Amino acid sequence: MTRHRSSRLPSFFKLSADERLAAVAAFAGVDPSELAPLASPDGLPQEIASNMSENVVGRFALPIGFATNLRVNARDYVVPMVIEEPSVVAAQSFAARLLRAGDGIIATSTEPIMIGQVHFPEPPPEPVLETLVATHHAELKEALDANHPRLIAAGGGFREARVRRLVDAHGKPLAVVHLHIDVRDAMGANAVNSMAEEAGALFESWTGARVGLRILSNLPMHRRVHVEGRVALGDAAAPHVMVHDEAARIEEASRFAEADPYRAVTANKGIMNGIDAVLLATGQDFRAVEAAAHAFAAYDGRYSALARWHVEDGHLVGRMDIPLALGTVGGITSVHPAVKACFKVLHVAEARQLAEVVAAVGLAQNLAATRALASEGIQRGHMRLHARNVAMECGARPEEVSYVVAAMLAADRTDAAAAVEALQHHRATHASS
Ligand code: MEV
Repeated sequence: MTRHRSSRLPSFFKLSADERLAAVAAFAGVDPSELAPLASPDGLPQEIASNMSENVVGRFALPIGFATNLRVNARDYVVPMVIEEPSVVAAQSFAARLLRAGDGIIATSTEPIMIGQVHFPEPPPEPVLETLVATHHAELKEALDANHPRLIAAGGGFREARVRRLVDAHGKPLAVVHLHIDVRDAMGANAVNSMAEEAGALFESWTGARVGLRILSNLPMHRRVHVEGRVALGDAAAPHVMVHDEAARIEEASRFAEADPYRAVTANKGIMNGIDAVLLATGQDFRAVEAAAHAFAAYDGRYSALARWHVEDGHLVGRMDIPLALGTVGGITSVHPAVKACFKVLHVAEARQLAEVVAAVGLAQNLAATRALASEGIQRGHMRLHARNVAMECGARPEEVSYVVAAMLAADRTDAAAAVEALQHHRATHASS
């Protein structure tokens, strides 16, 4: 089957769940049966789940949806998102449409270099450790690479070692050797942790000093994605055009997030709404990405906004730099049936491409949230979704929900009593008609 090139799937949200899955399958160029794990509550069979963790009693379900309209580096993506929070998927599709003109969001990424840390609690004095690390560089590379032939075959492996000297809270010196390891398409935790342990043993023999911890750093400073998105400004809003006034308010809101950690953390949380949803759908270590994103946001000593928006040359321009340690091989990527189905839809060739898409989702999510906050606020949109949840909690059947929600919104109420009243009224009028 050929892939549909455009992620513009007009009226996608109006389709039934089955029709949506068929549209996504058509986009991906696969038979809908290949995406069946996404539609089935048994998307993760018990026997696979039992091997993933300990004391397993079952599986835990969350909604999976697809966001439309995303275009990154001139390629279209229909994006799988696992999230329980209303509005995130709709906001994603909305902002991606604003940002899709031309080649869409432009993303660039670094080589997939992870850091392994080897800790020296009682380090040899400067420059003894530095000299030993430099003189043993070739030997270290040979020893570490020899133990990881698959990584070497994929083009990765040990790259360099750097010594960092620190002082602990008691004023006592300590040192860390950072191993830079190219992990290619893996998230890399396993390879890096093994290499750190192997390097630790070698350093002990070369230095005679005791080695402490040997573990990867979850701050992958050298594995980063930069994304830039643009929306043309005009006098009247259109699918790819924003009015000047709205852009000015978004820039103003962005400056607020840049200046204030209390606002920045909320803006960054919004970015992570989008990012985490894709990470869950693609079986990534979202805890690692969260930890890295917030550490990066505070890296210069003051927590700030990850994404920034400015009006430039007749456009609203957003930029974001973010460390992203993602894998397209290893972990549960080749084990979890629903994750495998998501990869069929995303069709990314390598981990860097996945990271570029994920960062683009984060930037679009930030635009959607900032735009809503800088104009009508987010509660109006949330009210409808909240009313839907309340209607269902109060016993509305699927075919009754839209009537109940419409009545609740017309009365400007989203409490349970309003839902019950609307439901009773609907049933009474329906029964008598
Ligand atoms: C809510 O989950 C996310 C927002 O608070 C993000 C933001 O404030 O930018 C809307």
